[in-house]
Amino acid sequence: ELKTGKPRREDVITGSPDNNVTDYIYEKMGMDLHRQADHPIGIIKQAIYDYFESRNPGLFQKFDDRYPIVSTRANFDEVLVPADHVSRSPNDTYYVNANTVLRCHTSAHQAETLRAGHPAFLVTGDVYRRDSIDATHYPVFHQMEGVRVFSEHEWTAAGLTATQLAEKDLKGALEGLAKHLFGDVECRWIDAYFPFTEPSFELEIFFKGKWLEVLGCGVMQQIILDDNYKPGHKAWAFGLGLERLAMVLFDVPDIRLFWSNDDRFLKQFRAGDLSARFKPYSKFPACYKDMAFWVSPEFSENNLCELVRNIGGDLVEEVTCIDTFTNKKTGRTSNCFRITYRSMERSLTDEEINALQERVRQQVASELKVELR
Ligand code: PHE
Repeated sequence: ELKTGKPRREDVITGSPDNNVTDYIYEKMGMDLHRQADHPIGIIKQAIYDYFESRNPGLFQKFDDRYPIVSTRANFDEVLVPADHVSRSPNDTYYVNANTVLRCHTSAHQAETLRAGHPAFLVTGDVYRRDSIDATHYPVFHQMEGVRVFSEHEWTAAGLTATQLAEKDLKGALEGLAKHLFGDVECRWIDAYFPFTEPSFELEIFFKGKWLEVLGCGVMQQIILDDNYKPGHKAWAFGLGLERLAMVLFDVPDIRLFWSNDDRFLKQFRAGDLSARFKPYSKFPACYKDMAFWVSPEFSENNLCELVRNIGGDLVEEVTCIDTFTNKKTGRTSNCFRITYRSMERSLTDEEINALQERVRQQVASELKVELR
């Protein structure tokens, strides 16, 4: 049976030695921004639904409440992610235990949805990735997966090979989607690599003077289809990030705003309205804190960001390494990181930031095996 709803805390933060989920991450689960009709993330989801509905009425099954806790089998093995791929590392992915993760992409649902017999579907959900911190990266974001299966009579009728038909339909569908969302934009296709598709592409659009990558896609690896659907078919798949599209379309300058409860943000968007452009209400001053330390080989920037986010929450705007050097005599390496604190809603006081930074320094020293300078 399928689970839905907000996971219980004990199902996410477990006693497993492999568990690396923080309370901060757990608190984001079940918020379901993609299921809120007036939220920019929900508006983009619905606009994509509407586009596919008008292109192929009734064809695509839509799922937006799949449980975000999945097996490593579903998240990686079933979509052919190699055993040594970086995305499997606990530095990049949140593990509940050794064989259970917070999905890092909606591709985790490709195989099971094919097994359920659906020839065309859109799966939308929250996905989780350990990463660095800046205006476009947040450890929780939303993706939509699209899959469409073709049968033999479809490519014979079109006078094409199976792969030709899949690639042609895929590119036509996604260029149409880009124009539906962004108006009459120029599109280009870049060759890419994903373990689950071959050939693979990224779509870029020319928007406000720049080429922007908007999604990844390709012709599904045949074995995924043969193992989980039926032999003798062909399919395409795409995956896109809803925050990325929403930031570009609605002029949202910082990804943290999507998690804000501030009416000055939320009231600027309404279901069905793709024409909204975010008007900043005010930019509050930033507060910068630098910290330098001698690192050990186990140190990783993602671990530092996780720790800082768990203490500072959404007040943390950016974490960047501003200096690094190695002492020639001792061979030790020192990093200096700058943490930018800024609220989207109010001015911060020196006292509260100093208190946060003091906790950060203490935890960095005690948990990251580094030596503060
Ligand atoms: N899962 C890929 C990602 O998260 C996107 C993708 C989906 C690419 C489907 C190709 C096909 O980056």
